[in-house]
This record gives sequence, structure tokens and C-alpha cells, in this order.
Amino acid sequence: MFKKILYPTDLSDVSKKALNCLLAMKSGGVKEVVLLRVISQSNAESLSQYHKHFFPGTHAHLETPGKGVAAFLESVYRAQEEEAREGLAPFEAALKEAHFKVKTRIERGVPQLKILEVEEQENVDAIILGSHGRSNLKEMLLGSVSEHVIRHSRKPVIVIKR
Ligand SMILES: Nc1ncnc2c1ncn2[C@@H]1O[C@H](COP(=O)(O)OP(=O)(O)O)[C@@H](O)[C@H]1O
Ligand SMILES: [Mg+2]
Repeated sequence: MFKKILYPTDLSDVSKKALNCLLAMKSGGVKEVVLLRVISQSNAESLSQYHKHFFPGTHAHLETPGKGVAAFLESVYRAQEEEAREGLAPFEAALKEAHFKVKTRIERGVPQLKILEVEEQENVDAIILGSHGRSNLKEMLLGSVSEHVIRHSRKPVIVIKR
């Protein structure tokens, strides 16, 4: 039924639970997995971009952070990407061992938007994700990323509960 599945993970415990489910889906015909980790674009950086857009020419200190700030942000992203690469390696290994074709993507952006973008680009048949992630608030039925993806995806979404 599903051949190619998108598996976005923030490496939280809930999202890790989806791996076993995915492995079990091999016998149901799943052949290919796109593993995705989105590195959230920092609030400070998006704030400065929005500011530049809406108030051009004002508050120079906000819209053009010094080279030092930009370089610092870049180094933070690089460190997170490295961490993501290491964190995703065991997932990739387990899936490959089970003879899935695997593609790993590490992207920067707003997680829920990036997930939907990659869903389109990769033309997957379904998405599998955790109901919650790193925040895992007790009183929330769904996390903010999972809610947005379920609401806006045009493909079936398999939600693994905590
Ligand atoms: N940055 C991310 N990159 C990839 N997948 C993510 C990311 N954030 C969340 N997800 C996916 O969405 C699921 C729900 O997470 P989320 O909605 O962020 O919950 P919470 O609000 O508890 O953090 C996670 O289990 C994971 O599968
Ligand atoms: Mg989250």
C-alpha cells in the first residue's frame, strides 16, 4: 500500500518509537524511507529577517547583526547538524540492515513547514511521526509540529502515540 515513507524525527523518545513500527511495515510492502531532521532556524535570526523586511533602514543593530553574530549562528547550526548526523546514524543503520532504501536529510528551517516541503519534493506515500516530541507537554493532545503536519499534509499521516 505504502512504498515510500517520510520519517521526520527530532530524536525525542516519542519519535524514536516510530522506528519499530516502520521496521514492522517492511512486510507490508514499504521499501523506502526518507529520514528527516529539521534544525530550527533560531528566533533571533528570523526576527532580524522579519525586521529587515518590514522596517527597512531602521534599527541597524537588529537588521544587520555583526559578522561575529552571523558566524556564531553558523557555528551553532553546524554543531546541531553534526549532532543530528550522529543521532540519525543508528536509525539509518537499523533501516538499512532491514533492507530498506534510506535517504537521510538534515535541513534548516521551520520544522512543520520543512516537513511538508520535503513531503512534496520526495513524493512520499505517507508520513510517520510522533504525537509529541521534545517538549512533550502533558496536557497537549498533540505537539505543535505534529498538529500542523496532520492538518496540512495531503498524504496519510501515521501518528505514534507516546
Ligand atoms: N525539528 C524536527 N525535525 C524533524 N521532525 C520533527 C521535528 N520536530 C518535531 N518533529 C516530529 O514531530 C513529532 C511531534 O513533535 P512536536 O509536535 O514538536 O511535539 P512537542 O510539542 O511535544 O515537541 C516528533 O515526534 C517528530 O516525529
Ligand atoms: Mg517539538
